[in-house]
Amino acid sequence: MKTLSKLLVAGLVLAGGVAFAEGEAADPTVKARQELMKTIGMNTKTLGDMAGGKAAFDAAAAEAAKAAIIAASSEIAAKFEPQATDPATEAKPEIWTNWDDFVSKGAALKTAAEALDATSLDTVKAGMAGVGGACKACHTAYRL
Ligand code: HEC
Repeated sequence: MKTLSKLLVAGLVLAGGVAFAEGEAADPTVKARQELMKTIGMNTKTLGDMAGGKAAFDAAAAEAAKAAIIAASSEIAAKFEPQATDPATEAKPEIWTNWDDFVSKGAALKTAAEALDATSLDTVKAGMAGVGGACKACHTAYRL
């Protein structure tokens, strides 16, 4: 019995370690904004893989990824407005002291995604510069 409970404790510690390694936040507000970023990340990867030749160009998939980025970027301000924190967050506190700038960087991503023409490989390649630049501008300033 004693051994069993020791094993259980060890198992829990291991499970906790895995959760930490994956950066899983427990706070629901933090989790929601990280999920939003994951959605943006996955859809950007879809476009990036096509632009980089890792995936075949697919106009319908490109259009869907573009639409998903536009929709998600429209939610950045609402999802980040409550200043929630969590040991697993990568959000810098400067977000809330420079709130207007943060919001405008979120809007810049939306504008860049709207400007991306998803109808051909060449235009996706061209549009990715703007989209990637918008991620980088905000992450450099506001992500740990
Ligand atoms: C307006 C600012 C802003 C823009 C624009 C932005 N991000 Fe982020 N992103 C953040 C912040 C802040 C975090 C950290 C959130 C946290 O951990 O609480 C983050 C986190 C992430 C994460 C990690 C999510 C996780 O699992 O914890 C990914 C992936 C990501 N962003 C991808 C992107 C991509 C791709 C783009 C551009 C297409 C982009 N982001 C544009 C601010 C932004």
